[in-house]
Amino acid sequence: MMACSIAPGKVILLGEHFVVKGMPAIGAAVTLYARVCVSSGQGRVESRQLGLLLDLSSNTVNDKGLYRVVEELAGRFGLKRDFHATIDSEIPISSGMGSSAAVAVSTTHALLSFAGVEPDKKVVWEVSFEAEKVYHVRPSGVDNTLSTYGGVMVYERGVFNRVKRRWPDDVVIVIADSGIKRSTGSVVADVLNRYDKYSNVMSRIYEAASELVRDALKSIETGDFARLGELMDINHGLLSSIGVSSRVLESIVWAMREAGALGAKISGAGRGGIVIGLVETSKVPSVVEKIKLLGLTPLVVQIDDEGVRRAPDSRTSQG
Ligand code: PMV
Repeated sequence: MMACSIAPGKVILLGEHFVVKGMPAIGAAVTLYARVCVSSGQGRVESRQLGLLLDLSSNTVNDKGLYRVVEELAGRFGLKRDFHATIDSEIPISSGMGSSAAVAVSTTHALLSFAGVEPDKKVVWEVSFEAEKVYHVRPSGVDNTLSTYGGVMVYERGVFNRVKRRWPDDVVIVIADSGIKRSTGSVVADVLNRYDKYSNVMSRIYEAASELVRDALKSIETGDFARLGELMDINHGLLSSIGVSSRVLESIVWAMREAGALGAKISGAGRGGIVIGLVETSKVPSVVEKIKLLGLTPLVVQIDDEGVRRAPDSRTSQG
C-alpha cells in the first residue's frame, strides 16, 4: 500500500517583521505543495531534490527536523521502521515560503496514513511544530499552521484566527523568487537593532503597520482588493523604511506595479527571498512577462483552503 499526502507552502500577505514586536500579520497558504509518498521499506525518508536523507538502518540522518517527526510518531503511535518515504516539493526553498514546514507537515500526515492512523490535523500540527523547533530557534508557528489548516490567517502574539474572505475569482498572487538566499534570523536582528537606535521613529512605523493590517483585514473580508493592493504597496514602503529591501527587490516590486499589479511587496524576511504581487487575471500575462525579463521564474498561485490532505499516488492523476 502507498500513502501520499500534500501540504501547501505559504506567503505572508502583510505585517512581517512588525509581528516580531507583537503587531498583527496576515499569512496565506498557497497552491504550491510538498508531496510525500510512503510505501513499505526499511525506515527511510529521502528527497534527492532537497538533498535530504534519513536512513534509520544505517543511522544516516541529515535532516534533524524530520528525524524528530519520526521519533515523535514512534513515541506517540508506535510507528514502526517499515516505511520508505519519498519527498518531492514545488515550494522554493530558503525563500520564506515555509518549505521545511510543508515537508514536515506532509511527511507526518503521510506516515500516519501509512501506519493506519487517521491523521488528525491537531496531531499533525503538534508533530510538525516539533520539527519547526529543530529548524528555527523560536518558530512563530505560522508556517506549519498555514500548511496544516490552509486558508488565510491573521496572527498576533501566538494566536491564529482564520480570516473569512471574499477573494474575487479573478485575483491571484504572483510570486517572484529573487533567488537571493538570506538568513531570517540575521535580518530580524538587524531590524531590531534599528528599532533600538531610532525607537521614537520606529515605534510609530510599527503602529502604522498595525493599523495597516487591521485595514487590510477589512478589505479582505469585504472583497475590496483594489484597496488591499494599495495597502500592500504601503506595507512595502514600511518594510523599506526598516531596512529589509534591496535594489533587486525594488526592481521586482516596480516591474510588477508597472505591469498593472494591484499592489506588490516583499513577503517574509526580505533582503532576498520572494516578492509577491496581487494581480487581476487580465494582468497576469504582462506581470509574468516583466518578471521573466528580469531573468526570474514567476509562479502564479491562489489560496489553498484545505491545508494538508491525502493525494493520489501518481503525479499525473493529481489534477
Ligand atoms: O522566514 P520568512 O521569510 O517567512 O520571514 C519570517 C517573518 C518575520 O516576520 C520576518 C520573522 C518572524 O519570525 O515572524
